[in-house]
Amino acid sequence: MDIVSRIKELKAAANAVILAHNYVSPDVQDIADFVGDSLALSIQAKKVQAPVIVFCGVRFMAETAKILSPDSEVLLPVEDAGCPMADMADPEAVAKYRAEHPDTILVAYVNTTAAVKALVDICCTSANADKVLRSLPPDKKVLFLPDRNLGRNTAKKLLLEMDLWPGFCPVHNRIQAEDVRRVKALHPQAQLLVHPECQPDVVALADAALSTGGMVSHVANSDCKEFIIGTEHGILHQLTLANPDKAFYPLEPLTTCVDMKKVTLDKVLHALETRATKIELPKELMDRARKPIERMLAL
Ligand code: 13P
Ligand code: SF4
Repeated sequence: MDIVSRIKELKAAANAVILAHNYVSPDVQDIADFVGDSLALSIQAKKVQAPVIVFCGVRFMAETAKILSPDSEVLLPVEDAGCPMADMADPEAVAKYRAEHPDTILVAYVNTTAAVKALVDICCTSANADKVLRSLPPDKKVLFLPDRNLGRNTAKKLLLEMDLWPGFCPVHNRIQAEDVRRVKALHPQAQLLVHPECQPDVVALADAALSTGGMVSHVANSDCKEFIIGTEHGILHQLTLANPDKAFYPLEPLTTCVDMKKVTLDKVLHALETRATKIELPKELMDRARKPIERMLAL
């Protein structure tokens, strides 16, 4: 039996649901029940109520799924698929900041560990950072963590001032304005869509800065036929599937998230066969980390 049929058989036997992020490899996206961005995957994890969720993405995403579906067994096919940006916010340092700034509201991007989420007031994703920041009392000081680029880009758009944690995504931070100008010159008719984890000078050159899910919706609703895509190149799979009449150009050098690409069909099969790696978090930690996520989802 081929690997895809075997995965389908085990998935059916376990009553499992496979969730995949837009950045994982195309063959993994193709076996998923749902493919989306961090916000959509969080909502889906809460909605599915499946006994087993196989999360094809990185650890903070699988942790969020577990926190929102504590009764489900959440499997992360690759134990060490992490997010370097999430690791840039150490819970001890965040707790210290909190103690030193008791009146500041802490806003955490979902790209954080459960231990950090348990310390903050509200979460956001790249799809709703504007909405979350606009929901806060205007007279309060705010710390945005860990992505300084998403923080800076959103603050600029909303004309806000806030403290920024010095974290960044190594994949998006690497994109340079000169790379963008070079690819734009090759495709002058194309719209440029970038992720808000890119540096502000890159975002300034773009037609829109959007979450990966936002890019999928934007392209579907646009009359434009060509797009330069400034994010991890896994997204090109969903864009091409949904828009066979449109052309997509990745930025060169190619933006690859090595952690997302660790998830392969073999690893998904192994996860279903062995039920590893299970996301396990203390109940008390999950209860605290759920509050800022639920506060975000309630908006
Ligand atoms: P999205 O929520 O836009 O999918 O982004 C997640 C991420 O990790 C971006 O690097
Ligand atoms: Fe983390 Fe960046 Fe990879 Fe997203 S692309 S998971 S932010 S390292």
